[in-house]
Amino acid sequence: MRITVRAGQVGHIRQGLQVYGALEGDRHPERLLPASSARDQQLKQLVTGSGFRGAPNEIVLLPKGTQWVLVVGLGKAKELSIEKIRQCAGTAARTARAQGFTAVTLPVIVERGLGPVEVMAQASAEGALLGLYRYDKLKQLSKHEQSRRIEAITLVVEQSGDLGAAKHGAHKGQVIAEAVSLARDLINGPSNLVTPTVLADEARKIAKQFRLKCTVIPFARLKQLGFGGIVGVAQGASHPAQFIVLEYKPAPRPAGRNRRGGRATKTYALCGKGITFDTGGINIKPSAKMELMKYDMAGAAAVLGTIKAAATLKLPVRIIGIIAATDNMPSGSAQKPGDVLTTLSGKTVEVLNTDAEGRLVLTDCLHYAKRFKPDYTIDLATLTGACVIALGSEAVGLMGNDEKLAERITKAGEQTHERVWRLPMWEEYGGQLIKSDIADLRNVTNTGEAGTITAAKFLEAFVEGMHWAHLDIAGTAWSDKPKPYIPKGAVGIGVRLLIELMEKGK
Ligand code: BES
Ligand code: MN
Ligand code: ZN
Repeated sequence: MRITVRAGQVGHIRQGLQVYGALEGDRHPERLLPASSARDQQLKQLVTGSGFRGAPNEIVLLPKGTQWVLVVGLGKAKELSIEKIRQCAGTAARTARAQGFTAVTLPVIVERGLGPVEVMAQASAEGALLGLYRYDKLKQLSKHEQSRRIEAITLVVEQSGDLGAAKHGAHKGQVIAEAVSLARDLINGPSNLVTPTVLADEARKIAKQFRLKCTVIPFARLKQLGFGGIVGVAQGASHPAQFIVLEYKPAPRPAGRNRRGGRATKTYALCGKGITFDTGGINIKPSAKMELMKYDMAGAAAVLGTIKAAATLKLPVRIIGIIAATDNMPSGSAQKPGDVLTTLSGKTVEVLNTDAEGRLVLTDCLHYAKRFKPDYTIDLATLTGACVIALGSEAVGLMGNDEKLAERITKAGEQTHERVWRLPMWEEYGGQLIKSDIADLRNVTNTGEAGTITAAKFLEAFVEGMHWAHLDIAGTAWSDKPKPYIPKGAVGIGVRLLIELMEKGK
């Protein structure tokens, strides 16, 4: 897909569908955006006559001469936000495709109070591309369906002085949207096609493209090396588990600048839960909706997507992606309730529920991260059903041991609308609750209360000394109802959040 950024007026670009934004008024839209459209009396009359008010994502499609025009509502002026702009672009691009257009011209809605133009252009590109995403590679599409494709997106800024910033933002938005789409493809892919080996191959492919270092430790080696957490989960599976380490580091800065820059490059370890299918194991899950457990590798997918985007955008941080990829299966060789594992850290865990497998594989990821002496360690995992109950699909559960990091993640969440909500990590949630009678730890508490937090307290036992944040994405990684730029299915949550967090090099 090619995104072209131009300066001028939407109305002057006669390619495909022309889009305008509209702020909400009581009876008619209060104002058409961009501002230049206000001088178009014919357009104004058409919109006013249509009964359109401008509520968020409300649409009206109108013929204007030989052109088709789409007006998308942005909601009330006071409530305009970067997220509304992102959604508006998603709605516009999807509507254009549904109406059979192959090209669409979108305005970059510029509202100076919301920040630099670059941010608005990025949001527009992200919204449009993510809105157009679909997972159709396993379908035989008819000729007609195949031709239903947007081939060109033109973003238009009114003022030529904004063109440079808009191009910059649009490029960034496109890179990020493509990385999110990679994550979505991996997550939407069924578990017979997206196996641990496929995740490892994807990491190798990224490594090759950007000359990154990639190490993959297969199941047999993991056993020899004492990766007891992932091995315990993987021993029941037929597809061999893979432990994937993908390292990105920025090119050294030119000499001279180096000294003045002062600060050393920060290192982030990103750990991803990569359960390619979670049956629950011997503590098998009920059948209803079990098919969704292909998305139990959404953390791993986010790590891969993030590193790909970071490498493309040349982010000024070092990133170590650490992924534990395996199916969680019941079988004759599967671990059984009551088994005790010795994790890579040396700590032993009594497995009282084989369905609490995410935290088992993550123990090895977190312990392995220590060798890179990261400044920050962040894990992403579809870890607990309790998180779905507590926060639903609007917020990622955030826990950890570092105030500043948590605050920065919260802020990045607001900026990207991948919002996070912090849960407490008081010592009462750990301690006796996660102690075992016969091993160092148990992988489930016996009360089952506060399941999201107690899972995080279990992980905390493996982070020793690291500045750490845990993101429980169980509720946010999959969407049941389509939104303007999030179709049903995989969300690709985490990629946009992490890039926002790391892009300044802090
Ligand atoms: N992958 C699941 C958590 C999950 C549930 C993700 C629903 C997405 C949607 C995880 O491995 C799991 O099974 N957790 C158990 C833990 C319990 C046994 C303590 C759960 O939440 O029920
Ligand atoms: Mn499970
Ligand atoms: Zn799981």
